[in-house]
Amino acid sequence: MALRAALRGATRHADAWLASLAHRPVRPGLSAAEVLARLDGPFPAAPSDPVAVIDALVEAVGGGLTATGSPRFFGYVVGGTLPAALAADLLAVVWDQNAALASLSPAASAVEQIAGRWVRQALGLPATASVGFTTGTQMAHVTALAAARHRVLAEVGWDVGADGLTGAPPVRVLAGADRHTTVDAALRLLGFGSRGIHTVAGDGRGRMCPDALRATLAATDTQTGTDTLTGGTGGARRVPTIVIAQAGEINTGAVDPLGQICALGHAHGAWVHVDGAFGLWAATSGSAHRRALVEGAADADSWATDGHKWLNVPYDCGIAIVADRAAHRRAMVAPADYFPPDPSGALDPVDWTPEFSRRARTFAVYAALRSLGQDGLRDLVDRCCELAGHAASRLAGLPGVRVLNATPGPAGHGVVVPLNQVLLRVEAPGGEGDRLTRAVTAAVTAGGDAYLTGTVWQGRAAMRLSVSNWSTTRAEVDLAVDVIAAAVGAARR
Ligand SMILES: Cc1ncc(COP(=O)(O)O)c(C=O)c1O
Repeated sequence: MALRAALRGATRHADAWLASLAHRPVRPGLSAAEVLARLDGPFPAAPSDPVAVIDALVEAVGGGLTATGSPRFFGYVVGGTLPAALAADLLAVVWDQNAALASLSPAASAVEQIAGRWVRQALGLPATASVGFTTGTQMAHVTALAAARHRVLAEVGWDVGADGLTGAPPVRVLAGADRHTTVDAALRLLGFGSRGIHTVAGDGRGRMCPDALRATLAATDTQTGTDTLTGGTGGARRVPTIVIAQAGEINTGAVDPLGQICALGHAHGAWVHVDGAFGLWAATSGSAHRRALVEGAADADSWATDGHKWLNVPYDCGIAIVADRAAHRRAMVAPADYFPPDPSGALDPVDWTPEFSRRARTFAVYAALRSLGQDGLRDLVDRCCELAGHAASRLAGLPGVRVLNATPGPAGHGVVVPLNQVLLRVEAPGGEGDRLTRAVTAAVTAGGDAYLTGTVWQGRAAMRLSVSNWSTTRAEVDLAVDVIAAAVGAARR
């Protein structure tokens, strides 16, 4: 009874929250300290009624929630939640499946297999690649780069699974100057210090320069010296190498020239990994121009992307995809004597991610893809890009505002941006532009009608408007632009 009553209470609160998204301020009304002050107290000695617990929780934390599912949320790169994905995720919680093993949850195993296949197909990646569903792109990097580490070292005779990194041949890692910080974090977690990363220069728009990659590869292609494998003095030999490219720079949305990077990397024996947290989804676009941005992505060796960004499934969901299934499994597998033998060959998700026990997050992925279909996914991606282009064109027309990632559109058609990100700045002499840009970002978000986030682009303050939510329409984008225009006017006064 208590369970049913608590669930009914939660459903009522959930309904109220979802209904409020259309009009509530997007920003939270309370700071973390204020929520803490409302909620904090000694660990109770006695039990409490579940309904009362939920009601009190909602009452205390409600004001500290950010309406990230609102169509007026344009911060970071945060997707909304598709109705089918939200409902499926609620069921995943209620069903409380441990998705590690097919024998423990045949349903989670089967759904994960289908979701993985559909994701590969949507992104135009090899049908034979293996897929692991992680908490986010950060852990998808860890998964894919662990597979990379395993293989590039195996190729020079070193078994990193058995012998670890101590005494291993050094691995050369090359990544673009505009890479996401999670790449460095993943490399650190895998034992590659960030000082060892060779940073490859970008083109000023967020893309890696193939010429710079070529030069860095050539300059560091062989290593001479003590042969760590034999203990003797080795000659010059090929260096185990990982190249990390990016599809969708977080500020500009720019995509590296993936085909060229893969060709260059492979010519030097490298494993090429792509950080495509949101940009890889350009493969689903109906526009040949957008699809061309990610042309060549399929030539890479591994990919990391998110479900919780552009696919609009609830937090959390990342996806690691690896062309070399054997390397992926060897890097992740954690066999245990107590696992029941499963002669059916069904997918055991535990074999493909760093987690052991975990939630069945792919019910939501399946539901999102099933409810959208290929047509709906294409429309979602293209709608976001077109709305970002519309915002960029209007913002570029505001006096004193510069859209930093825009290029002129076809004659008379404003400006265009690469994907769904709009990067802008209020221009003024000296340091005044930084001050105004930060003031406008803060004022827009504080107003509550729209939510944007600030950033630093090439050493200067900027702000970013990301269109990543399935429910955002032109009306919300126009509202955000109007609010920005008003804030620019006020800041200049
Ligand atoms: C390009 C890129 N890579 C990685 C990440 C990190 O993704 P997650 O927060 O899912 O770990 C982001 C997040 O915005 C991103 O834009």
